[in-house]
Amino acid sequence: MSMSKYHPFSSFLCTQQKNSMIRMISTWWSNVQQGPPDAILGVTEAFKRDKNPNKINLGVGAYRDDNGKPYVLPSVIEAENQLRNKYLDKEYAPISGISDFCNSAISLALSNESPIIKDKCYASIQSISGTGALRIGAEFLQRYAPLKTIWVPIPTWGNHNQIFKFSGLEVKTYRYYDPKTCGLDFAGMVEDLSSAPSGSVILLHACAHNPTGVDPKPEQWKELSALFKNKNLFPFFDMAYQGFASGNVDRDASAVRSFLSDGHQIALAQSFAKNMGLYGERIGLFTLTTLDKDEADRIMSQLKIIIRGMYSNPPINGARIVSEILSQPKLNNQWLVEVKGMADRIISIRNQLKNLLAKEGSTQNWEHITNQIGMFCYTGLSKDQVKSLIEEHSVYLTNDGRISMAGVTTKNVGYLASAIHKVTSA
Ligand SMILES: Cc1ncc(COP(=O)(O)O)c(C=O)c1O
Repeated sequence: MSMSKYHPFSSFLCTQQKNSMIRMISTWWSNVQQGPPDAILGVTEAFKRDKNPNKINLGVGAYRDDNGKPYVLPSVIEAENQLRNKYLDKEYAPISGISDFCNSAISLALSNESPIIKDKCYASIQSISGTGALRIGAEFLQRYAPLKTIWVPIPTWGNHNQIFKFSGLEVKTYRYYDPKTCGLDFAGMVEDLSSAPSGSVILLHACAHNPTGVDPKPEQWKELSALFKNKNLFPFFDMAYQGFASGNVDRDASAVRSFLSDGHQIALAQSFAKNMGLYGERIGLFTLTTLDKDEADRIMSQLKIIIRGMYSNPPINGARIVSEILSQPKLNNQWLVEVKGMADRIISIRNQLKNLLAKEGSTQNWEHITNQIGMFCYTGLSKDQVKSLIEEHSVYLTNDGRISMAGVTTKNVGYLASAIHKVTSA
């Protein structure tokens, strides 16, 4: 398109002025470099191009049913039907979100009996799913935490690093996963956290650690809680999988609740993407627990200022769905059965994969497949083995050997076991 033809002032400008304007416009973004593609979306792109009818995509962290299809929970469909019949308006939500949603979501995390809820010692705001909760939390910490440093486990969900960095926090790491045992490096974790300066913020995965599926045991959480007390560390829990890990929402929240009962103040990011299958609805909650109601009110006022400057107020649909489900006993019970159903399918498919590997004749130790929990299995496969799985067997996974168990079904688990056996015994 010619500038001189379409620019509104073009007829008033001399040729030299026009040329210098065009030059300025065409060089404005010449400093922008091509960014790397998202690691996980790249896996999906490669999967789509593959013509092998047996291909499997184990990259994406979204639940699939046993036919490999996305699953809309019947409780969600029922809540949506009920909402449709209410003909609700589409007015803006308050800056902090829909209060019925915020109240029921925090009760789900802390339990109805929590003294923190009874005494109103918390500030909760609706967020754009778990990512948004982490982002708001990071923004708050960057402004008000005594140290602008957050410690994350190695490895951690890839997005943690950029969420925290983009908010201006310095990201440091602590040991977490032990490749030798495919389990928790608890001694390394304790040693690294002991060296963190007093006042540091520590990111903890509340359950179903992503990407490893390795969680501390209840007694290890207790030890960590004591360490946090001694060293004056601040726990920021990321709880993206409540109910999805064990099938029980209370069990999956036990680390959070045990820190609270030990007297810690915490930050908490919740997501309803996985446990209600509300991925694209982008619904979550960010909470800070406080000393008293006055502190909660002051924090709430600052959280609102942060949100106002970012996106004004959150979307309403997902919050309404969650609120219907959590507030109606019948619908809530139905959802609890459905979330358990998703968790159970994954637990069962882990067992099948491990057993089929043994049947294939694999002599490797695959105990970690069933010891790990949640959506992901950190297989321990090397980069070369991952490459062979992709190139020779059309099994797609991330470079670090992480597979989404949600993509494994009774129909493809045999093919997967055989492919893994071939690349690990070659
Ligand atoms: C550990 C962890 N935290 C947070 C999230 C946030 O997800 P969302 O923003 O979709 O709720 C995820 C999603 O994969 C995750 O694995």
